[in-house]
Amino acid sequence: MDSEHRTNAECLEGIKEVVAGGVSSSMRAAAVPQPLVVQRANGCLVWDVEDSELVDFNMGYGPHVFGYADRDLAEAVADQFTKGHMTGLPHELDAVAGSLIAELVPGVEQVRFANSGTEAVTSALRLARATTGRQLVVTFEGHYHGWSETILRAGKTTLQVQGTRPTDVVPGAPGMIPGALEHTAQVPWNDPEAIKELFARDGARIAAVILEPVLANAGVIPPAPGFLQLLRDLTSRSGSMLIFDEVITGFRVARGGAQERYGVEPDLTVLSKVMGGGFPVAAVGGRKTAMRLFATNEAHHAGVYAGNHGSLRAVVTMLTKIRAQRGLYDELEGIGAATENMVREVFATEKRPVHISRVGTLMCVALLKKPLERSDTLRDLAEAFNFSQHRRFQILAQREGVYFHPNALEPWFLSTAHTQSVLDKTAGALQRALVSLG
Ligand SMILES: Cc1ncc(COP(=O)(O)O)c(C=O)c1O
Repeated sequence: MDSEHRTNAECLEGIKEVVAGGVSSSMRAAAVPQPLVVQRANGCLVWDVEDSELVDFNMGYGPHVFGYADRDLAEAVADQFTKGHMTGLPHELDAVAGSLIAELVPGVEQVRFANSGTEAVTSALRLARATTGRQLVVTFEGHYHGWSETILRAGKTTLQVQGTRPTDVVPGAPGMIPGALEHTAQVPWNDPEAIKELFARDGARIAAVILEPVLANAGVIPPAPGFLQLLRDLTSRSGSMLIFDEVITGFRVARGGAQERYGVEPDLTVLSKVMGGGFPVAAVGGRKTAMRLFATNEAHHAGVYAGNHGSLRAVVTMLTKIRAQRGLYDELEGIGAATENMVREVFATEKRPVHISRVGTLMCVALLKKPLERSDTLRDLAEAFNFSQHRRFQILAQREGVYFHPNALEPWFLSTAHTQSVLDKTAGALQRALVSLG
């Protein structure tokens, strides 16, 4: 499509003619209050079709730890395309990519590759149910594990669009099989009593506990001290599997993900995003004992494109870079701290109450309508966040050349491309946006 001289709105109308709703992810529909159609992206910058340049803090929802259009990644994948990127047969890259993951992630000895986080989560749950012979899966409020039938609860964005409270548990979406969530239970995050009670009552029925070890999808809420270890102890004692969904945290909050950062090893780990640098690839992995039913092919995990050579070349390139850069995670921590300080300073200057929570390069920034007394659970945040004002702030910031997700619960993702000069420029834009907010 020739987008020259066309506005975002005109382009979006054209897309809507042939792509239902103008987007290919329902999440994206809720996330675009102002039509913005991308022309290109580089580093931490995106340009829309009107040629406006924006500093991006959403960064494709997290894969680009080295920024957009990373040269090493582009060259490696281009090379793989000239060698055949998909044959539906095993390739040496399977061993190289698998070994890199096994070397870097403490709880992984073996993997199965998939194309998306949703697929890999689905697979992890199936493996846990097949291994334990039990059905019940425990989830936590606000944690997102993709959109497959047995795990999807109406997301925070949908709830806000519907005007429902973000803490309300609304099963799934229209069209889901009635009872699809009958085999899941949900408890609040960081609430030791609630999870202990559930295990005391239903422990013998629990196949798995699945969680984002840092609740990145709703407010960047770290695990309370001892909480991950409690989950480890409860699952081990009851013979259920502990699954860390590290789709976001993997290779981001530490080289070995949240399990390295917090020193707790799950039975199964789900990885995606940073590992592929933006290519559609994911993995479910664990120790050989946990992966046994996949090794013997008694549990079913498939996919024509699963582990295709193009995606695995991306994984090998990203993880080789990550392994080689010894100071990478200190650098990322520094960028996180500098961004946090910058945002705090802007809000302090403008005397605006704000909540900021950060784990490494994951950060939540939210305007508040009342002081936040606790910030351990989604409920704590949802009651104090000023969602509508935050949306207006986001629109104003976008006009000033800074993009972040309009939903206050969604994380900001930082990368090595968010340099000090970018942050200085961002400070001015955020300040102007706050002044316009009135
Ligand atoms: C923690 C987590 N798990 C699973 C998923 C689903 O991954 P995908 O959108 O690739 O299916 C996401 C997506 O953002 C995620 O953040």
